[in-house]
Amino acid sequence: MYVNMCGIIGYIGKQKSLSILINGLKTLEYRGYDSAGVAIFNNGKIDIKKSVGQVKVLEKTVKNNINLNSHIGIGHTRWATHGTPNEINAHPHTDCLNRIFVVHNGIIENYKELKEYLQNRGHNFLSDTDTEIVPHLIEDFLKNNKDFNSALLCTLKIIRGTYAFAIIDSENPNTLYAVRFSSPLVIGVGKGENFLASDSSALIGKTKNVIYLNDGEIAEITKDNISITNLEKQKTFPEVTHLEWDLEQAQKGTYEHFMLKEIFEGPDIVLSALRGRLKNKNLVKLGGLEQVANKLNKTKRLLILACGTSYYAGLIGEYLFEEITKIPTEVHFASEFRYQKEPFEKETVAIAISQSGETADTLASIRKAKEHGLLTLGIVNTVGSTIARETDAGVYNHAGPEIGVASTKAFISQLTILILMAVYLSKSNENSYNNTLLQELKKIPKKMQTILNRSDEIEKLAEKYKDYDNFLFLGRRYNYPVALEGALKLKEVSYIHAEGCSAGEMKHGPIAMISEDFPTMAIVPQNNISEKMLSNLEEIKARGGPIFAIATEGDKRITSLANDTFFIPKTIEPLEPLLTVIPLQLLAYYIGTKRGFDVDKPRNLAKSVTVE
Ligand code: F6R
Repeated sequence: MYVNMCGIIGYIGKQKSLSILINGLKTLEYRGYDSAGVAIFNNGKIDIKKSVGQVKVLEKTVKNNINLNSHIGIGHTRWATHGTPNEINAHPHTDCLNRIFVVHNGIIENYKELKEYLQNRGHNFLSDTDTEIVPHLIEDFLKNNKDFNSALLCTLKIIRGTYAFAIIDSENPNTLYAVRFSSPLVIGVGKGENFLASDSSALIGKTKNVIYLNDGEIAEITKDNISITNLEKQKTFPEVTHLEWDLEQAQKGTYEHFMLKEIFEGPDIVLSALRGRLKNKNLVKLGGLEQVANKLNKTKRLLILACGTSYYAGLIGEYLFEEITKIPTEVHFASEFRYQKEPFEKETVAIAISQSGETADTLASIRKAKEHGLLTLGIVNTVGSTIARETDAGVYNHAGPEIGVASTKAFISQLTILILMAVYLSKSNENSYNNTLLQELKKIPKKMQTILNRSDEIEKLAEKYKDYDNFLFLGRRYNYPVALEGALKLKEVSYIHAEGCSAGEMKHGPIAMISEDFPTMAIVPQNNISEKMLSNLEEIKARGGPIFAIATEGDKRITSLANDTFFIPKTIEPLEPLLTVIPLQLLAYYIGTKRGFDVDKPRNLAKSVTVE
């Protein structure tokens, strides 16, 4: 199993490339941050600079050269897979002649045998990376009198794995090459200049027009032209997509961290997800599903496929779909589903949930669903991303770029879309239950705001709980996935061991852990299952476990049980997760920062997991 989450940036045009590359790398740093490097044309040759650590270290190294008259270059921020994070292993990598410079996201699976083959042919390798074979292979093919394009094509035909490459060649000073196979790459189309990035968020503020490369496409980019061919040398005619995101959304503003800014965006995120989708008489209109509406009417079973936080949103989706649409629903980890041998019934609809739209396992599971003839839908935040393009239809989140590595606002948005989708699919769009649901949903942003306005209460409680080494998160029904998500958030940004558990399951094992050193975060809003939750909390209290509860305003039952309680406004049960998750996100944020960690860039994590 591999994980790879590096960032690629490229530039060709009228501006000075180095500062564009450094700025681009900074915006991509959330994808990987153990080392970084750039290669730029300077006075007829290519200069390369690399450094270990965050991009600011590289920025310092190149500070004196930032105004160099260089108009083409590539850059990379690395999240190590092959070889430790050091300068030699940092990208770009080059050939024996220092002619060809390559940055790479992904994994080349057959690199060992190719490296051995090249070494036997006299090539000298410096790094432990898989990437380094690429410039050497191109160099080797060039020796056989091939031109650069043919040498590149021959290289692509013998490597196996997943990749996105940005390449520059000292003999072709006016061309930036880009290749994609299973690892995302997007071209930013400018006037007299063009950009390249592994993630469209790195292009915000530079251009709004982008081209997403498809698998097996090779782009030759000059400052005025973009020419794209496939592995069969046929020209392809790409679609230019318009990015909605603006610069302000990609900046921290007055917030200390993106994570906090994005948690505070919650109310706006719900409003953006609802905008234009609630019609008179509370009908839900989802434009992205119209083209498949007839097929959707016949849905007999729903499969939700996702990873991580998006998977937890999917688990809540299961409760929503089964309660509102009465359609049997299953949620799968995409990483499991892709290898599962399960029977496929006709009239099953597969829904992928993905903030990035690039998660490799989610993409693979959707491709598998398609191969079996299922209709595939996406709930995706990143417009034009691979999952958005490969699903038959879908609904965009319109949540703006999520920069903090730990997902917060995307979860809120995914829940909102799932509620809308459930009503849309329920066929009885106008029934009174759906009316209540949507009326209540409209009130959620204000209720969220009242929670956010009291973030100082959570901050104080974070101070009290920050030194514990373990946490149990408990919830039931709709709030069980919230417990899982709360535990995941805490783990990710504070490195505290936390387990999410369905409260009913607690006595089947996890209760053994409870002691005065093992606090429980109980999600216990007032609903028709809360009495059961209260009994579970009695069991914890009897064993001396500290309890921090999230409960509904005015519910006095909790005060005698919990050591601390954070009260939230009342809503109906299917909408509770939209409120209960916010204090948990804030708790993780404050504990993480109080423990001194950079919560926007948690260790070992990166934003989108684009390789299996
Ligand atoms: C957790 C987190 C991850 C992602 C997961 C799926 O905070 O961010 O668990 O939710 O990697 O990513 P997407 O939604 O981009 O497919």
